[in-house]
Amino acid sequence: MQVTVNRKAHFNAAHRLYNAAWTDARNATVFGKCANPHYHGHNYELIVAVKGEIHPETGFVMDMKILKSLIETEIEERFDHKNLNEEVAEFKTLNPTAENIAVVIWNKLRPKIDKNLALSITLYETPRNFVTYSGE
Ligand code: NI
Repeated sequence: MQVTVNRKAHFNAAHRLYNAAWTDARNATVFGKCANPHYHGHNYELIVAVKGEIHPETGFVMDMKILKSLIETEIEERFDHKNLNEEVAEFKTLNPTAENIAVVIWNKLRPKIDKNLALSITLYETPRNFVTYSGE
């Protein structure tokens, strides 16, 4: 019996999407407003989903206090109110798209969560645009 527990979290961050090998015009065409050289912010909504067996002694798949704390230390403290391009090492050379941010978040949390539990990240960049990464 596999049950998924979900924890929602939130961070505000600035970014700029661009490919340094391209002209400003091409960056503007491909990335639209997100190519603004002066950066801009998003209110990111994060859902961390952990799936596994219910532990018979606790009735938990994972202790949500621990998951909450992991998200705070590994993600929120590193990303909240940051300029992702300038202040988060992973994005020095990686375009901070929602896709890439979700992969970075997964990579940060995966080693901290029991390997018998499956981990999936859903990241909303806007209320209508969101991505999912499960390590595949
Ligand atoms: Ni943007």
